Amino acid sequence: MKLFDVYSLFDVTPVKGLGTRIWDDKGTEYLDLYGGHAVISVGHCHPRYVSAVTEQLGKLGFYSNSVRNPLQEELAEKVGELSGYQDYSLFLCNSGAEANENALKLASFHTGERRVLAFKGAFHGRTSGAVAVTDNPKIRSPYNSWHEVTFVNMNDIDSVREELSKGDIAAVIIEGIQGVGGIIIPDDGFMKELREATREAGTVLILDEVQSGYGRTGKFFAHQWAGIEPDIITMAKGMAGGFPIGGVLISPEFEPVKGMLGTTFGGNHLAMAAAIAVADIIKDEDLVSNAFEVGEYLKKRIEILRSAQNDKKSQNDKKSQNEIKEVRGRGLMIGVEFNGPVAEIRKKLLFEKHIFTGVSGKNMIRLLAPLVLTKDDVDIFIKALEEVL
Ligand SMILES: Cc1ncc(COP(=O)(O)O)c(C=O)c1O
Repeated sequence: MKLFDVYSLFDVTPVKGLGTRIWDDKGTEYLDLYGGHAVISVGHCHPRYVSAVTEQLGKLGFYSNSVRNPLQEELAEKVGELSGYQDYSLFLCNSGAEANENALKLASFHTGERRVLAFKGAFHGRTSGAVAVTDNPKIRSPYNSWHEVTFVNMNDIDSVREELSKGDIAAVIIEGIQGVGGIIIPDDGFMKELREATREAGTVLILDEVQSGYGRTGKFFAHQWAGIEPDIITMAKGMAGGFPIGGVLISPEFEPVKGMLGTTFGGNHLAMAAAIAVADIIKDEDLVSNAFEVGEYLKKRIEILRSAQNDKKSQNDKKSQNEIKEVRGRGLMIGVEFNGPVAEIRKKLLFEKHIFTGVSGKNMIRLLAPLVLTKDDVDIFIKALEEVL
């Protein structure tokens, strides 16, 4: 049987990882500034993570949600402490899309409404509701298109208020920082107004922190930079070191009803052991602060590179494709936007300099490094990028 061929692949086969490093099947070492798409928060194969998962596997890998599982309560306690949302409750599932799917469903149950307000450039996943609130018609089939969704411009509070005034909105869903959309940070002032407007309208504010959460931006959740508290928060990628997982934080306003949400695999023993280990490591190694500090350093170094490019060219020079246009982001969620396509730059970084990076659109290199990244790692990257450019 062949694999269903839906992914564009780089010709690299990683077989081993440690911290910020990966090795391929030929023994070549790579620096990982992509974290397997923001998943590897505590670094590859952290010894505490490996022993926690191994130990749990030897005890009990799985049992269903029909019996008590104290590991779920332990994780909820730890996430509450790390995030500051102790009074919210936690629903556990298996992926980012599933977390958003459950968040949208809960909001619709709560308000009795079905229309959802989402933002231009948004990405929320590929399952039916999640892809319907994703602003990309190419990945939305006719089957996914019957959902009632309205897209408005980011930071456009007037349009949001106008839609809310129609009185039929179940939820507004927004990413803490748009990742796939190109590291678009909503204005803090807009987020405050959005919180106020959704509260006034009696609708549910859902913060999708699947990519921007779990310490990545230098706060536990990216929306905490704006000082707001949403009604529902979704998370997934950085939670369990690559073990499939998702989570929904739900404010005390919501009443759980037996059977209203559910999943077979969500919250299983192995996933919990993995997630508890990650939460402990994030706390003990102060990785949220590290993400901020090293992220700031990385942005500063790229900014210096950008200025040097600018200084070099005379005023009449045409724009070169390899010119850095802008660097933006928070913590270790960083976009480096160029004046042209970045495909060649990324290929050279990977195959000549042995550095993994991500991408947004055609012109942006997206950096989603493990939160254990060091300033020395940054120096290696900057030197490599300079040489490639
Ligand atoms: C903001 C955001 N939401 C949701 C998802 C979907 O997560 P998953 O691929 O785990 O379903 C992603 C994945 O990239 C994402 O970036």
